[in-house]
Amino acid sequence: MKHRTSPNRSPQSRAPLFEALADYVKQPKAAFHTPGHKQGRGIDPAWRQLVGDNIFRMDLTVLPETDCLFHPTGVLKAAQALAAKAYQADHSYFLVNGSTGGNLAMLMGVLFPGDKIIVPRHTHKSVIAGLIMSGALPVYIHPEINKEWGLILNVSPETVERSLDKNPGARAVFVSSPTYHGICCDLEKIVKLAHLNDRVVMVDQAHGPHFLFHPSLPTSAMEAGADICVESTHKLISGLTQASMLHVKGPNIDTRDLEEVLLLTQSTSPSYLLMASLDLARRQMALHGRELLEKSIKISVKLKKDINAVKGLYCLNPEDVKPFKLDPSKLIVFVDKLGLTGYQASQILNEKYNIQAEMADWDHVAFIFTLADGPAEAGKLLAALKALAGSCQPNTRLKKLDIQFPSNYPAMSLTPREAFFAGYKTIPLKDSVGEISTEFFTVYPPGIPVIVPGERITKEAVEYLRDMKKIGAILVGPEAGQPGKIRVVA
Ligand SMILES: Cc1ncc(COP(=O)(O)O)c(C=O)c1O
Repeated sequence: MKHRTSPNRSPQSRAPLFEALADYVKQPKAAFHTPGHKQGRGIDPAWRQLVGDNIFRMDLTVLPETDCLFHPTGVLKAAQALAAKAYQADHSYFLVNGSTGGNLAMLMGVLFPGDKIIVPRHTHKSVIAGLIMSGALPVYIHPEINKEWGLILNVSPETVERSLDKNPGARAVFVSSPTYHGICCDLEKIVKLAHLNDRVVMVDQAHGPHFLFHPSLPTSAMEAGADICVESTHKLISGLTQASMLHVKGPNIDTRDLEEVLLLTQSTSPSYLLMASLDLARRQMALHGRELLEKSIKISVKLKKDINAVKGLYCLNPEDVKPFKLDPSKLIVFVDKLGLTGYQASQILNEKYNIQAEMADWDHVAFIFTLADGPAEAGKLLAALKALAGSCQPNTRLKKLDIQFPSNYPAMSLTPREAFFAGYKTIPLKDSVGEISTEFFTVYPPGIPVIVPGERITKEAVEYLRDMKKIGAILVGPEAGQPGKIRVVA
C-alpha cells in the first residue's frame, strides 16, 4: 500500500545518521583517523572555497558516534530501520556502490553456483556481472517490443510463466522494473506466479525509488510482494550519486548470507556523505514524498502533452507501452521526424540551449523530470524543444527502425562465468560473427549488454554496434582498450 500520511512528528521525521554527523562537526575533536584530509583541513583550498567547510567536516569514518555499516548498533542501525519502515521492508541496507553493488549482492547473496535463475536478457550489465560472480545459470527470457517505436518494453507474466513451466528447477526469478525508459512490468502477477512455485523474486528497481510514495505511480517491488529489491536512491530522488538501497521482505531471503556478501563486496570505508544522503532522502520521501511527487507528476504530464503538440516531436505516452506501465518521470522524446538522431538532438540541446538530457539513443532523447523540477524547468525544456524543432526541416524522417537493438539472441553456449574465465583470442569485432564472446559489449546508457559473455556473436549485434558507433553512441567494453576488437573463446 502506498504511503498516505506524513505526520511531521512521526519517527520518520528523524534522520539519525545525518543528525549524528551534524552534531559531531560541532565538537572540538582532534582527528587522528582517516580520511587524511582531516575534516577538510588538508583539502585543496580551491575546492573548499567553492563548497565551504561543513561538507568536508562531515566526511567521516567509522567512529563510536557514527556507527559501522557492517556491524550497525547505533545511528546507522536506526537509520536503516527507518528506511525499512518507510519502504515497507523487513530490512533495508544502505549501499555505497549504487544499484550495481545491490545487484551483485542480490545474486551472490541468494544463489549458489549452478543455481538456475530466470532472468531477462535485456537486463543491466551489473546483473550479468552478478551471474559471473555467483556462478548461477541464467535462463534468459525476452521482453515484448513495441514495433512502431522499436522500443524494448518489458517481460510479460506469460513469458515468465512459460519459463517457470519449462524450468521447474529454477530457484529464482529476476525482473528489471522499471527499465531505464521507465517501463514497468506486472510485478504483482509475476510475484504470484513465482511464489506459487517457491521461487525467490528479485527486482532491479534502480529507476523506481519514488514508486511507493505516490498512488498514481506503478506498483513498487515491496508492495507487489517481491522478496528483495534494489533501488538507486540517487537516480530519481535525492540521494547523492552512488547512494542506493537494498530492501528485503519475507522469509525467503537469508539475511545472514546477504549481509556476508555486502561485507565482501562493498568498501570497508563507506562514505558517510552518501549514507547521510540516504537517511535524508528517506526522510524527505516519508514526510513529503506525496506532495512533492504530486507537483512534479502533474507538471510532467502536462509537459508531455505540450511536447506532443510540437510538430516533428513525439513524447512516449502510457498508451504506447500497454499493458506495461510508464513512469511519468521519464520523458522519452522521439526526434527522428526532425531528421536528427537522438545524439545530434542531445548535442544541439546541450550546446545551443543549455539543456542536458539523461540519455540519447539513435532516434530519441530521454529526460527525467523529478521532484526537484517545477514549472520553470518544464518551460525551459519545452522552449528548447520548440526551438530545436523549429530549426529543423520536418519531413526528413530518418528511416524508422534503421537501427534496432538486437532482439534475436542466440542460445547461450557457455555460462557467463565459464566464458568470462575461458581462454581467449582477440579478433576484430567485424570478423567475430559465430564466435563465443568472453566479454560484454554495451552501449551506455542504458547499459544493456548487446553482447554477453557466453553467447555466440550475431551479425545483427555486430552491425548494431557498428551503426551505433557511427552515430556517436558510447560503446563500453573492450572498445576502451583496443577499438574494433573483441575477445572470444579461443
Ligand atoms: C536498470 C538498471 N539497473 C541497475 C543500474 C545500476 O545502477 P547504479 O548506477 O546505481 O549502479 C542501472 C544504471 O543505469 C540501471 O539502469
